[in-house]
Amino acid sequence: MATAAKSASSKTKSAKPRKATRRTGRRDPLAIRLLKQDHREVEKMFDEYEQLEDNAEKLALFNQIALALKVHTQIEEEILYPEERGDVEDDLIDEAYVEHDGAKKLIAEIEAMKPGQEFYDAKVKVLGEYIKHHVKEEEQPGGFFAQAKKGDEDLDEMGERMQARKEALMAELGGKAH
Ligand SMILES: [Fe+2]
Ligand SMILES: [Fe+2]
Repeated sequence: MATAAKSASSKTKSAKPRKATRRTGRRDPLAIRLLKQDHREVEKMFDEYEQLEDNAEKLALFNQIALALKVHTQIEEEILYPEERGDVEDDLIDEAYVEHDGAKKLIAEIEAMKPGQEFYDAKVKVLGEYIKHHVKEEEQPGGFFAQAKKGDEDLDEMGERMQARKEALMAELGGKAH
């Protein structure tokens, strides 16, 4: 039982026609695609950081990494994580919040320092490894995203809200990052 109508959701506000069953797994829904895209971008920036020698370039790139991570974690915490309660295991959601908090503390520590100072590069490196671990928990088979995709939320519609929120946050947080 209970496999019946979960469609016709009352909160649908877009007029776009939707297929009744779209959980085919052929393509990720928008919310997941956007978050995975963020993950790839930030991983690339951490890899680029490793190649840098110049302190001014390191600072500029770290500022970009920090902004990307702040916006991404905030979107997940405002939209994905709370709305997936019930679809994703509670333990997994709780751990994801705690991992975000750990990352934010490390970001704040790095922001209080300058490139060239002792442990600056080490902290950036450890932050990158920490983020890789967290991303794996989200993306691995049976992980957060996999459980979310099996759930009842409309992840395409959620993705549209995430996109709008991302633009607003980039403007808000990016504007004061200098
Ligand atoms: Fe996350
Ligand atoms: Fe994420």
